[in-house]
Amino acid sequence: MSWIREGELTIIERFCANIIKAGPMPKHVAFIMDGNRRYAQKCHVERQEGHSQGFDKLAQTLRWCLNLGIREVTVYAFSIENFKRSKEEVDGLMDLARQKFSRLLEEQCFLNVCFAYTSRHEISNAVREMAWGVEQGLLEPSDVSESLLDKCLYTNNSPDPDLLIRTSGEVRLSDFLLWQTSHSCLVFQSVLWPEYSFWNLCEAILRFQMNYSALQKARDSYMEERRRQQMERDQAYVTKKLQQEGFASHGDSRRRRTLLQKCTATREERIQGFLQALEHKRADFFERLCTVSA
Ligand code: IPE
Ligand code: IPE
Ligand code: MG
Repeated sequence: MSWIREGELTIIERFCANIIKAGPMPKHVAFIMDGNRRYAQKCHVERQEGHSQGFDKLAQTLRWCLNLGIREVTVYAFSIENFKRSKEEVDGLMDLARQKFSRLLEEQCFLNVCFAYTSRHEISNAVREMAWGVEQGLLEPSDVSESLLDKCLYTNNSPDPDLLIRTSGEVRLSDFLLWQTSHSCLVFQSVLWPEYSFWNLCEAILRFQMNYSALQKARDSYMEERRRQQMERDQAYVTKKLQQEGFASHGDSRRRRTLLQKCTATREERIQGFLQALEHKRADFFERLCTVSA
């Protein structure tokens, strides 16, 4: 039987879900699932049991998300820093992850798991990939931009999260999705992760809805600014070209238009070529990794 689909919402939960769904809903929600060990201590159970209940809570939370029409969920399950915990705890978490995630991923297509992850590592890796592209002659240095960096992140296939929730009362991001959450609604809740309830999720969504228009405005004006900056870079490139061709800085307007179109098209071509090469490079890396660990 499916782990996620089993069990529907109660009548009262369904009723409230329908009211909430009348407002703007987050399409992508990210969770920092924190507080497992404090929960274990509070309930006088083994630490591993706290982690195990944490994984079970994820399955339940995904079911609520499905019922609420949230199409994508990203979870922080284990950070690179977490390797500093005792060997016994790390081994226990690895065992649980193997067991529980394989079951979850069998039936889910909307779950992204960040495991052995930190955001600064992800961002610096994306910067290194772009430097590699320039070194290989696939990119021009002027192609390096925020929008290209977006495409080099592990999350390049997902939209940025609309809502990020951290449980356990800690008010920090612990190096999670730092780049992707600049226009997300951040909600910090005091409940420990294994005790997370449908009502906690509703409260977080209500907070998102209360901030929706401000978030939307900030996102739109950021995208506008990004487009403006790209246009400015292209114009500067064309001006330089025209000067090289012996035109005065503004040059002939038809020639300027043609050069501008050409500049945009060739940049797009370079970027597509680079992204394909990057995909191959990553696929080779994973293949080698699988061969080594087999
Ligand atoms: C989150 O709970 C799970 C992981 C980090 C793997 P913690 O293990 O951090 O539990 P607390 O925050 O110490 O209670
Ligand atoms: C953050 O939790 C990572 C995960 C929830 C996987 P931690 O409990 O490890 O974070 P810090 O150390 O309190 O910042
Ligand atoms: Mg913690």
